[in-house]
Amino acid sequence: MEKILVIGCAGQIGSELTLELRRIYGNSNVIASDIKPASQEIMEGGPFEILDVLDPHRLFGTVARNKITQIYHLAAILSGNAEKKPIASWNINMTSLLNVLELGRELELKKIFWPSSIAVFGPTTPRENTPQYTVMEPNTVYGISKLAGERWLEYYSNKFGVDTRSIRYPGLISNKTEAGGGTTDYAVEIYYEAIKHGKYECFLNKDTTLPMMYMPDAIKATIDLMEAEKSTLSSCTSYNIAGVSFNPQEISSEIKKHIPNFSISYKPDFRQAIADSWPKSIDDSLAKKDWNHSIKYDLANMTKDMVDTIKEKFTKGLL
Ligand code: NAD
Ligand code: SER
Repeated sequence: MEKILVIGCAGQIGSELTLELRRIYGNSNVIASDIKPASQEIMEGGPFEILDVLDPHRLFGTVARNKITQIYHLAAILSGNAEKKPIASWNINMTSLLNVLELGRELELKKIFWPSSIAVFGPTTPRENTPQYTVMEPNTVYGISKLAGERWLEYYSNKFGVDTRSIRYPGLISNKTEAGGGTTDYAVEIYYEAIKHGKYECFLNKDTTLPMMYMPDAIKATIDLMEAEKSTLSSCTSYNIAGVSFNPQEISSEIKKHIPNFSISYKPDFRQAIADSWPKSIDDSLAKKDWNHSIKYDLANMTKDMVDTIKEKFTKGLL
């Protein structure tokens, strides 16, 4: 019987991943936690705790008391916000991971999931079809913390036998919870603004292509990786996964097919330099080979789903 702890359940990924894990493993077997309250659905649908992952004693208590076997550690400060508070963000991103890895070692947890990001790559990385193994010289606080985190996963795996699993998520697009302060957030905000106001001022240039993924594909990839036989996995650090690459002009054209009067303008800010240092597209052949990674959504069917879902919320007065 698996007992799962999700850390960061109130965030963009946690708010959806927690529900899917509860559907698979049973509500009472998935303990949701965050430093802040989560949605009613999460707090009332199963066990929920306010937990600061930076407090190792509380974390130990929660894991031991609930006989946790797996942790999904999602708490982090994302790229845009991390540039505003570099040292605090480094501390949250790294200390939290080390607290979780230490617990994995001490309590011999079965598996730990921790997400990395396309932010591990930097301006010297090949930007088209970025390989799994390549030059990695990130120049953002967030990217440096993710690259260091990947190295720590491998260290704990090799040195202590902790089963660590990880994905370098592309920018994630979803309609349940706001995006958490990243550079790819524009691709979430644009849908809400299109439906609420018919226009959007984008903080990236029109031709800034980035790899993205719709949340249902990201959740499926995460659980597929965690459920894969250990013997099939050739990496204990982070797998590239590709998703779909597009730029603001292309997503805007797709939205116009559903909202013909939609207009977009461009006012790049500090996040443009971050986006310019990241890949445009990703080679995910290793994830396909090792655990049969695949996706269902491209720009067209993702946009239809986003527009339909957000329109429905808007019509019901939920936005
Ligand atoms: P998010 O900011 O939406 O959610 C993070 C959650 O962590 C928040 O609910 C926050 O309250 C919680 N948290 C912060 N500090 C905490 C603490 N000290 N203790 C407990 N909880 C704390 O982020 P997200 O988009 O859901 O991302 C989750 C993970 O996935 C992060 O590691 C992020 O770097 C990674 N990731 C996300 C994306 C994306 O596009 N969303 C892409 C690549 C990687
Ligand atoms: N979506 C994330 C960000 O922009 C990528 O890790 O920070």
